[in-house]
Order: sequence, then structure tokens, then C-alpha cells
Amino acid sequence: MPEDPVSRIRRARISDASELARLTAQLGYPASIQALEDRLVRVVSSSIDCLLVAEESPERLAGWIHGFRVQLLESENRVEIGGLIVDEGRRRTGIGRLLVAELESWARKSGVAELGVRCRVEREESHRFYESLGLRATKTQRVFRKSLANGGGIPN
Ligand SMILES: CC(C)(COP(=O)(O)OP(=O)(O)OC[C@H]1O[C@@H](n2cnc3c(N)ncnc32)[C@H](O)[C@@H]1OP(=O)(O)O)[C@@H](O)C(=O)NCCC(=O)NCCS
Repeated sequence: MPEDPVSRIRRARISDASELARLTAQLGYPASIQALEDRLVRVVSSSIDCLLVAEESPERLAGWIHGFRVQLLESENRVEIGGLIVDEGRRRTGIGRLLVAELESWARKSGVAELGVRCRVEREESHRFYESLGLRATKTQRVFRKSLANGGGIPN
């Protein structure tokens, strides 16, 4: 692993919308810059969300991670990773590990004692990644959804 894989990990800003859109498309969720910006406004102003980016240069991002606090009746609070992506050309250089470590630190400071993630079964490389960071697979789930927008459709 290089000594300095990225210049820094920092909180996302609204001005990151276009880079976040570029990376989010690699995750398989293409979205316009405007749509990304609208979501960013909600996420960066929320105290239960933490969106971090790995800055390669002031103009270019090498990855992002989004975590959010989950409050349930049946278990203690935890932070769940809602999304994580490292730029295709920058993988296996330690950036994903750094992003998760920073999110973990935010979770600890928020008084949360558990970190979780839901991963698609077919994303086997990410399973190996999470296992290498100490996360353990605990169950397999089936996801059910219903579109509430006009015209229906199947949400992704
Ligand atoms: C999963 C992902 C975020 C990992 O990021 P990364 O920066 O490449 O990972 P790191 O370099 O920090 O890897 C840390 C450790 O994880 C393990 N690991 C990472 N990628 C791996 C792979 N493809 N196969 C096996 N082990 C892997 C290794 O143990 C690695 O340490 P090492 O390189 O010293 O052996 C990245 O591959 C990615 O963006 N994938 C596509 C999107 C995705 O699947 N996101 C997760 C959605 S739940």
C-alpha cells in the first residue's frame, strides 16, 4: 500500500456533486449532477448522516462513503454503511480501508457501538473487503420495495 494513497479524507460539500455523480455511476447508480446535488443538500445537513470523500486533488475525488445512524426498537443503535465506492483506477491502494476507518471514528464519537453494511450477494470482492476489516456476515436477506411515485416501477 502506498504511504499516502489520497491527500485527505474530509466531509463532502455541495460542490462535490459532479465528482460524486461520476463515482456513483461506477457503483451502478447513474444520476444527474442535479439529482446528486439535491440528495447532497439533504445528507450534508443531517446530523444522522456522515458523507466522507477521499480527495485525490482539489478537483478530483478517489472515493466516497456514506454512513447513517439507525435507530431500532429491537437492537442498540448502529451505523450502517449506505454506500461506498473507490474509483476504478485507485482500488487496492488502501482508500476503502481509510474511508471505513474514518466512518468508524465518527460512529464511535456518536456513541454508536456497531457498524454494519448490507451488501449485494454478487459483490463478492466487497465481501472480502469487509471481512478483511473485521466485519462478519451475520445473515442473508431478501429486499422488498414498492414505488410510491406516480406510475409505479421497480425501485433499485
Ligand atoms: C470494495 C471497495 C470499496 C474496496 O476499496 P479499496 O480501496 O479497493 O480497498 P482497500 O485497498 O482499502 O483494501 C483493503 C483490504 O480489503 C481486501 N480487499 C479489497 N479489495 C479486494 C478484492 N477485490 N479481493 C479480495 N480482497 C480485497 C484486502 O484484504 C485489502 O487489503 P490488501 O490490499 O492489503 O490485501 C472497492 O473495491 C469498490 O469500490 N468496489 C466497487 C463498489 C462496491 O462494491 N462497494 C461496496 C458496496 S457494499
